[in-house]
Amino acid sequence: MDFDIYREIDRQYSIKREKTENEIRMKKRRLEENLPKYYELEQKKNEVAIEYTKELLTKNGIDKEIAEENMRIKVKKIQEEIDKVLMEAGYNKNYLEPEYECSICKDTGRIITSSGEKYCKCFIQKVIDRTYKQYNMLKLNEENFNTFDIGYYSDKVSKEKYKSEVSPRDNINKIKKIAEKFCNNIDNKDQKNLLFVGNTGTGKTFLSNCIAYELINKGYTVIYQTAPILMDMAMEAKYNFDRKSENRIKYENIFNVDLLIIDDLGTETLNNNRFTELFNIINTRLLKNKKTIISTNLMLNELSQEYDERVMSRLIGNYIICKFIGDDIRFKKKKITD
Ligand SMILES: Nc1ncnc2c1ncn2[C@@H]1O[C@H](COP(=O)(O)OP(=O)(O)OP(=O)(O)O)[C@@H](O)[C@H]1O
Ligand SMILES: [Mg+2]
Ligand SMILES: [Zn+2]
Repeated sequence: MDFDIYREIDRQYSIKREKTENEIRMKKRRLEENLPKYYELEQKKNEVAIEYTKELLTKNGIDKEIAEENMRIKVKKIQEEIDKVLMEAGYNKNYLEPEYECSICKDTGRIITSSGEKYCKCFIQKVIDRTYKQYNMLKLNEENFNTFDIGYYSDKVSKEKYKSEVSPRDNINKIKKIAEKFCNNIDNKDQKNLLFVGNTGTGKTFLSNCIAYELINKGYTVIYQTAPILMDMAMEAKYNFDRKSENRIKYENIFNVDLLIIDDLGTETLNNNRFTELFNIINTRLLKNKKTIISTNLMLNELSQEYDERVMSRLIGNYIICKFIGDDIRFKKKKITD
């Protein structure tokens, strides 16, 4: 593909690979200088490889296979000796293993499938991050299941305050379990989508981030966007489809990404076009079994006033409704730092 973004990300990948390879080369050189035994064995390994490669040229069929197998055994033996030498000198077993950011594609950005070469998900995620400029939006390192602090949710039941029979803490624990199950079940056709409703500051965006973090780490692709910006971007990309190839990628990814998070639904102003587009996005993703998380400040009855029946019936039928209750955590956090 000759799209600028793809080309640029490709370049980043080859820079990264070169860097990794360089590091290994440097490490090897240093070992060769400091560990004569290591140097000797590496030389021997190379010699064996050269010798057998020559021999292989003169052989065919079963003879060739036997020669290949012999070479493998010999190289493996020398490698074991090398490992031993390294270990005795105090080096970790994986000292010379390249450290890949993505173990699936070994930082090539490509994977081979039965239907040919494909982009690895890590590559597609980079395209998404770039086209949606979402790096600075997602607070993945700050807001994830490891930093999830249950302490912000009161363990007191107050029907008056929270309009619920359970405490905010019991409530959030239940939602957290639903979220964790969602992460493990993302490919499952029977797994429903998630609708987060609740007052401001009750942790809807935080939990969305936790899920995004978890899934990106598992190698899934995620778009996170607030509803107004997402709808702006979608409309922009749709109507300028031909002008820039970037627009096509951007638009198509809304439908194809493994998880789409639409935050703050209800804050955007919807004209007819936008409304139809939103419906199109929600509906197409349902049909494709691609998961979506929607959060909103509005309560369900307000939502149904705002959106027409088509959207509401999709939401209610295919989404687990998670009602966030509790005090405004933003306020609580502020009091602590003040
Ligand atoms: N489980 C949690 N552990 C620690 N901090 C949290 C947790 N949940 C939320 N917070 C913090 O509380 C603040 C408000 O949370 P968040 O933005 O998720 O609320 P929200 O429900 O999305 O609010 P709004 O409806 O206004 O968008 C943020 O600073 C967030 O980092
Ligand atoms: Mg929010
Ligand atoms: Zn990859």
